[in-house]
Amino acid sequence: MSKYGTETVLDVRHWNDHLFSFRTTRDPGLRFDNGQFVMIGLEVDGKPLTRAYSIASANHEEHLEFFSIKVPDGPLTSRLQHLRTGDPIVVSRKPTGTLVLRDLKPGKHLYLFGTGTGLAPFLSLIQDPEAYERFDKVVLVHGVRWTSELAYSEFIEQTLPNHEFLGELTQGKLIYYPTVTREPFRNQGRITDLIDSGKLCADIGLPPLDPADDRAMICGSPAMNKDMCELLDARGFKVSPYIGAQGDYVIERAFVEK
Ligand code: A2P
Repeated sequence: MSKYGTETVLDVRHWNDHLFSFRTTRDPGLRFDNGQFVMIGLEVDGKPLTRAYSIASANHEEHLEFFSIKVPDGPLTSRLQHLRTGDPIVVSRKPTGTLVLRDLKPGKHLYLFGTGTGLAPFLSLIQDPEAYERFDKVVLVHGVRWTSELAYSEFIEQTLPNHEFLGELTQGKLIYYPTVTREPFRNQGRITDLIDSGKLCADIGLPPLDPADDRAMICGSPAMNKDMCELLDARGFKVSPYIGAQGDYVIERAFVEK
């Protein structure tokens, strides 16, 4: 069997001139853990041209959803951004990735730190009932440059709380903290600075980050990942060393085409 299957685009949403998301059909045989990624792409000159993309939809949903940047001269995204309903898209059959709940030790608060399209795996995870069974609070922190990049904020703030069965699970447990760095917004500053200054925890009414109670997942640019690791390591957090081994936090690079 080929490494890839072919799915069909169901709809496409453009958030601004450099971010878009799309839904596709899902092969019922495709099983994945919330937070994992697959290789997706297009057939170009008879060969699949693919990149790693976190699955933004939850594994209990019938479709797949992806959140992407548009890079004008990127080999894949320069093409992907023109996707339309009905177009074919190749999807690998073997999801994988480090951002899985089972690789976190038990704790009280689950922090999901994402920048840019690094939000994608967390969209899947905040729809996972297990996250709310295992943690008292699930804190989704999304850092972006501009307010127009706060994709999915309406889904998180309006749709999810009213969802027929997830709504009840997330009530009082899911805390959404969007923060913007390059224009005024209700929360401003880099995630790392907001943790260092104590502002993030003060704003959400939780104690400072502590490996005794807190668990974290990180998904951002290489620079953000590095700084977040240093910050957590300095506070005594231990990273999960490999898939299948538990830690206080897990980390994945947000997949950005250069
Ligand atoms: P800033 O505007 O100060 O660079 P990007 O689009 O470059 O991935 O950035 C997404 C968000 O992540 C921006 O708000 C950006 O802030 C922030 N960011 C970039 N690098 C870091 C880092 N090393 N640590 C924390 N946040 C970062």
